[in-house]
Amino acid sequence: MRFTTLLNPLALAATVLGDYTAIVASISDINKSTLKLQTNVNNWKGNLLGTLPIISESTALLEAIKKGTKTSKASEALNFTGALYVAEGTISLANSVNATMTALIAAKPKFNKLLLGPIILVNLGLQKSATDDFSAAILTKVPADLKAVAESLIAPIDKALEKAIDEFRHFP
Ligand SMILES: *[C@@H]1O[C@H](CO)[C@@H](O)[C@H](O)[C@H]1NC(C)=O
Ligand SMILES: *[C@@H]1O[C@H](CO)[C@@H](O)[C@H](O)[C@H]1NC(C)=O
Ligand SMILES: *[C@@H]1O[C@H](CO)[C@@H](O)[C@H](O)[C@H]1NC(C)=O
Repeated sequence: MRFTTLLNPLALAATVLGDYTAIVASISDINKSTLKLQTNVNNWKGNLLGTLPIISESTALLEAIKKGTKTSKASEALNFTGALYVAEGTISLANSVNATMTALIAAKPKFNKLLLGPIILVNLGLQKSATDDFSAAILTKVPADLKAVAESLIAPIDKALEKAIDEFRHFP
């Protein structure tokens, strides 16, 4: 009987990734990549070569979000304390996403001059859909009593992405 319990993949996942710190670490990775993207956009002079670090970090960000979804799915349910740490990270990430989307929107004329606006739009769409998956994965781990609060903390992240998507939808 014990042997079967040990081999149960769910039991294993819970022992290995049972800590809220794994989710918080994913949020922190996404935060770092988001801010790096912001720096790359802000440092960009508007030349074609300079778009490479932007596109590259944009891809890295997408990967970080997808990794966060996997980590969150593999994590055990959060208790109150864990949910508070995740909430704290989410509030902070929302600030970073806001700033990065603001920077992207400001750089839109430069992207469009190089006819790259549509590529940014595609990337933003992918990031939005990956973010929706990540949020959904986290929400299934949040205690029922805190679900509404968690949703309200995630909302500004969604809004910021939607705002940038709306902007880049208008080309030029
Ligand atoms: C909450 O979960 C964490 C692991 O994510 C654990 O370390 C902590 O002891 C738990 N706290 C309570 C009050 O159960
Ligand atoms: C995001 O990065 C900023 C700047 O380093 C930091 O102040 C903030 O705490 C970070 N937030 C998360 C969730 O890691
Ligand atoms: C950033 O936050 C400010 C203040 O809440 C808000 O007015 C603005 O629309 C946000 N920008 C984006 C891109 O989300």
